[in-house]
Amino acid sequence: MRLFILGANGKTGTQLVDLALARNHQVTAFVRSPEKITRRHPNLQVLHGDPRNVHEMARVLPGHDAVLSALGVRPPQAFRPHTLVQECAASTVGAMTRAGVKRLVLVSAAVLFPGKGLFFDFFRFILTQVRRDLGNAEEIVRATSLEWTIVRPPRLINTADDIYRSERDVLPASGYSISFRAVAAFMLDAVEQRMYVREVAGVAS
Ligand SMILES: NC(=O)c1ccc[n+]([C@@H]2O[C@H](COP(=O)([O-])OP(=O)(O)OC[C@H]3O[C@@H](n4cnc5c(N)ncnc54)[C@H](OP(=O)(O)O)[C@@H]3O)[C@@H](O)[C@H]2O)c1
Repeated sequence: MRLFILGANGKTGTQLVDLALARNHQVTAFVRSPEKITRRHPNLQVLHGDPRNVHEMARVLPGHDAVLSALGVRPPQAFRPHTLVQECAASTVGAMTRAGVKRLVLVSAAVLFPGKGLFFDFFRFILTQVRRDLGNAEEIVRATSLEWTIVRPPRLINTADDIYRSERDVLPASGYSISFRAVAAFMLDAVEQRMYVREVAGVAS
């Protein structure tokens, strides 16, 4: 498949590129800082662009089978008001509509599940700004007629495994963390196997 990856040089995005190439997909990494991607591979094309710019994206998107987005804002900016993911969601769905690309997998966060108790309350509070941005991005995606999947992981950790459990509309039981690589594996499985189309999936290790 021809896959268009946003956030391709981030921690989840790097794993997505790596796994997608290992699975013999053709990968387009659309990034604002191409110099950060040092990997070279005949099936990897690195394009410079702004994921908030619908025109830039629409120009290079035709011919792809799916868009996978692992964009996000890093701390400390993540704790201040920000709109990156929602702005990119709007430009992405706009560009996809223009380009005739229907399949979208978007990384969100488990903090958007309505969990009860002190543990959830604490993270909901700490991640207020992230929650707002991702929540708005989810709304933008859900309002389209695209074949979207929203994936909500809990805390992301840097381990080499790609094992995940997934469930519709809920975080798998006792799911407190998951590796960046396992989220990437889920995203690719969702595209390859047409899983969770127009659904929200909770994932955890
Ligand atoms: N970390 C966790 O525990 C956790 C848990 C649940 C969900 N999540 C969510 O998972 C997603 C991926 O997380 P991650 O840790 O893999 O992300 P990350 O490593 O911080 O990567 C973020 C990506 O977004 C890009 N980006 C940031 N600001 C940009 C801008 N203004 N214009 C263009 N690109 C920009 C970065 O590119 P540059 O390198 O050019 O900045 C990078 O490719 C995020 O939405 C995060 O909220 C994270």
